Amino acid sequence: MEMLRAIGLMSGTSLDGVDAAWLETDGERVGRLGPSLTLPYDAALRADLRRLLDRAPALPRDDPGVAEVAARLTACHVEAVRAIGRPADIVGFHGQTILHRPDQRLTWQIGDAALLARGGGVRVAWDFRSADVAAGGEGAPLAPVYHVALAAPLPRPVAVLNIGGVANVTYIGADGAVLACDTGPGNGPLDDWAHRHGNDACDRDGELSAQGRVDAGVLARLLADPYLARPMPKSLDRLAFGATLAASGLAGLSPADGAATLVAFTAEAVARTLLPQAPRRWLVCGGGRHNPSLMTALRERLGAVAPVEAAGWDGDALEAQCFGFLAVRVLRGLPLSFPGTTGVERPLPGGRLSEP
Ligand SMILES: Nc1ncnc2c1ncn2[C@@H]1O[C@H](COP(=O)(O)OP(=O)(O)O)[C@@H](O)[C@H]1O
Ligand SMILES: [Mg+2]
Repeated sequence: MEMLRAIGLMSGTSLDGVDAAWLETDGERVGRLGPSLTLPYDAALRADLRRLLDRAPALPRDDPGVAEVAARLTACHVEAVRAIGRPADIVGFHGQTILHRPDQRLTWQIGDAALLARGGGVRVAWDFRSADVAAGGEGAPLAPVYHVALAAPLPRPVAVLNIGGVANVTYIGADGAVLACDTGPGNGPLDDWAHRHGNDACDRDGELSAQGRVDAGVLARLLADPYLARPMPKSLDRLAFGATLAASGLAGLSPADGAATLVAFTAEAVARTLLPQAPRRWLVCGGGRHNPSLMTALRERLGAVAPVEAAGWDGDALEAQCFGFLAVRVLRGLPLSFPGTTGVERPLPGGRLSEP
């Protein structure tokens, strides 16, 4: 199969912006990697997306308010494709998840693929998760098949940990068997906490959390969330820990202690994810690897932890590259999800295509 030129677009649960990345791939092998970038969302779009996350469960699919936000979101994606500045055969458009309830066979990513195909003058692959949840899968994570392609030359077992708004792990066993799930919170609760206490959008460089002490009682209540004890496969909604956080006593802590406790929550949730064997190395991607407090907390619990740059990958571009890779898989009808990754019964293709 010839290599195609793909641009992947990912808008994660952090709502920080859209990541875009160019690569060459046939959907199985990864060829040349090209430019990547993040276009941050403006405060108004971020606030509107946040409101949609809260309201999505009650909204109909054709809600005009949703369509209006989706159009603005799509315009940012068109801009990101232009800013990449390289021709592509296909664009992988994840969109923004505003609802993820696989137990109800529901997952909802907003974004207007037809508009992107017209605006970018390029074929677009989109709706990557619906087929999986319709077939009884978790619909997430989808990155494992890309992690496996990248990790082919690495010693096993190895784990790739992505820390976005939520965190997800891909475990590749000594025999090549792949397991994956969302481990628990990523940066989401910490972002909200930092923001509420007058910081910008996150615990920048771990500065707030580094000044605090973990509150053992609050941490124990957070770790009692039933999600952590659930066996794989499992996946999370952005709002999943809302009730647990509210009842944990977190609100009574100082800003610094609260931040330190949330860092411990994220790291401990990873450590409690049961894997068949201890990975020889944990490679971390996503914005969470920029938080030194979080990296230290992970290292204390897991041992060999390094940013994915240690393997020569780009941890800010990885998820976007993944959706370029998956776009080519959609085009070729190759599976996106697997029993070990989403719990779906057999390897399952998915996604839809929109022509310019
Ligand atoms: N310098 C930094 N210090 C601390 N946290 C950071 C830093 N840079 C990024 N982050 C975290 O990374 C998040 C964005 O990560 P990202 O991988 O884009 O997540 P998502 O895929 O959910 O959008 C931010 O919300 C923030 O919590
Ligand atoms: Mg992001």
